[in-house]
Amino acid sequence: MRIAFIGDIVGRPGRDMIKTYLQKIKEEYKIDFVIANYENASHGFGLTLKNCNELVACGIDVMSGGNHTWDKKDIIPLFETHELLRPHNYPEGVPGTGCKVYEVAGERLAVLNLMGHYSMPMCDNAFRKAQATVQELKEDGVKNIFIDFHAEVTSEKRGMMMLLQGQVSAIIGTHTHVSTDDFQIANGTAYLTDIGLSGCRDNVIGMDEKVPLKQFLTGMKGHFDIPKKCKKILQVAVMDISEGECSKAFKLKYFDDDRVVKSDAWYED
Ligand code: FE2
Repeated sequence: MRIAFIGDIVGRPGRDMIKTYLQKIKEEYKIDFVIANYENASHGFGLTLKNCNELVACGIDVMSGGNHTWDKKDIIPLFETHELLRPHNYPEGVPGTGCKVYEVAGERLAVLNLMGHYSMPMCDNAFRKAQATVQELKEDGVKNIFIDFHAEVTSEKRGMMMLLQGQVSAIIGTHTHVSTDDFQIANGTAYLTDIGLSGCRDNVIGMDEKVPLKQFLTGMKGHFDIPKKCKKILQVAVMDISEGECSKAFKLKYFDDDRVVKSDAWYED
């Protein structure tokens, strides 16, 4: 199966880029299944029903979340009606799930969403939850496992890779909004520390720079806002996965002036 992953969709600019380019990408690269992270999709904070439906209509099959999952309260009933995940290591009893299994191109694919610890809400141990969930999936005969690891620090993401390489098909980081340059395949596991945002690219993590700059200059907090006008980017990771292993991976960056940059993952083994 060939799957695509889009990281943090930040506000309308991110949704617009998906509307403009996703169908074209799916056709050109023959993508079987699309995963994306919704947690910043509605004006930077959470996901509304309207925006959820809009993104599904663009061709996204399942969406993962993170620390902003609960920002828009109308998400709670959507866990029953839409293909949405929230980090699997939120404490027991929290609405929704962080792991679902899909039938894709004749094989099963598990999509697992986890959240890190540094600078993140209180949640159960991501590493122990990952180990236990991967074991359960394997016992159920699910070989192909994709993980969106939503975490602030590179060390936690890299640690997850060292823990699970050879056991899962892909681990891709989200949350920082800034892409890293380390897309690789090691022991059959595709790994990228952070895929980076889809949305405005000429600001501060997709947000108007006025508020963060005031915060950095004065120490006074403010509410981050999506800029009315900006330069945009759509960042997509594409992976060929079968029998639990990733055999090929590359990243696409679409700019709103129609430039496209494609870069292949490197092989570690
Ligand atoms: Fe986040």
